[in-house]
Amino acid sequence: VQDGYGVKGMVDLGLTKVPKPYIQPQQERIDKRNARTCPLQPIDLSKLNGPEHDRVAEEISKAASTIGFFQVVNHGVPIELLGKLKDTAHSFFGQPPEKKAVYRKGASPSPLVKYGTSFMPDKEEALEWKDYISMTYTNDVEALQQWPKECKEVSLEYLKTSVEMVRKLLEVLMENLGVKPDNTKINALIGFKLVNMNYYPTCPDPNLTVGVGRHSDMGALTVLLQDGIGGLYVKVEEDIEHVGKKGEWMEIPPVDGALVINVGDALQIISNGMYKSAEHRVRTTSTKSRVSIPVFTMPKPTEKIRPLPELVERDGGRFREVVFQDYMNNFFSNAHDGKKSLQFGQA
Ligand code: SIN
Ligand code: FE2
Repeated sequence: VQDGYGVKGMVDLGLTKVPKPYIQPQQERIDKRNARTCPLQPIDLSKLNGPEHDRVAEEISKAASTIGFFQVVNHGVPIELLGKLKDTAHSFFGQPPEKKAVYRKGASPSPLVKYGTSFMPDKEEALEWKDYISMTYTNDVEALQQWPKECKEVSLEYLKTSVEMVRKLLEVLMENLGVKPDNTKINALIGFKLVNMNYYPTCPDPNLTVGVGRHSDMGALTVLLQDGIGGLYVKVEEDIEHVGKKGEWMEIPPVDGALVINVGDALQIISNGMYKSAEHRVRTTSTKSRVSIPVFTMPKPTEKIRPLPELVERDGGRFREVVFQDYMNNFFSNAHDGKKSLQFGQA
């Protein structure tokens, strides 16, 4: 399949079998028969402004320190925007291959925009069943000049409103650790931001493939809009009462109007291991293509990240200081392999 066609281009040619490069080894395949649905209810963020603030803050902190995933509603990202984003993702990927190929790695007219397929195609044992467009944020002017015209406006509004919410969540999460959440600390965690649109075409045999292999995100917090198809699974790292058992994979169910939030490696490091970046993966479907739209917030590449001194004083440092660029280089030098990249930061 030619450059720019992506998995979608291949599927559109009329595919009845999974091509060999996409067949996952047995242990990476996702069996959904025994997977349970995560029982945690979405958290109502508007309640942070009222008398229930403490209860809601506790709920957020508990999720971040156990499963590393939660969903939020009344999050401040306009509901109409969520619908527009999903429609836009479908229309972006529905374009002829040449239109998307313009942005492929090494050819894109903008260093901020990259269209690709799979994660690290030259590193993976088996390719992921996914196409994506990635848009890095530097400032509004460059975003509106350089991001693809088909999706720049909605993506920018989504990124900005999501980042507002992320700031609030980080405040809550820092307060919970007994750390004063000043702007310097928060900015250091979210100095680098991007929005992706992911497209998972229908697959002739979802039992053989993965949309995304097991990984944790490398940043601070990820905000994810998923559509109604489902297929996002998270691994429970330790037994969590009323939630799940160690080693179990649970599905994060689609909830209309909700956004999924997950903890990334940088937040695990900065919180000295108090918050858990969660291993997750995506199953493919045979009936309808799925879209998901994440906003990633992470430290600037030049930022040195290490556990907050207040926490080290209390518990001893569990992670060493790393320049985030080095962390990213290590992350991208491997195929998706669970939480392996976090070992790079271990003390
Ligand atoms: C990802 O974690 O890379 C994608 C998650 C999703 O599509 O649900
Ligand atoms: Fe992810």
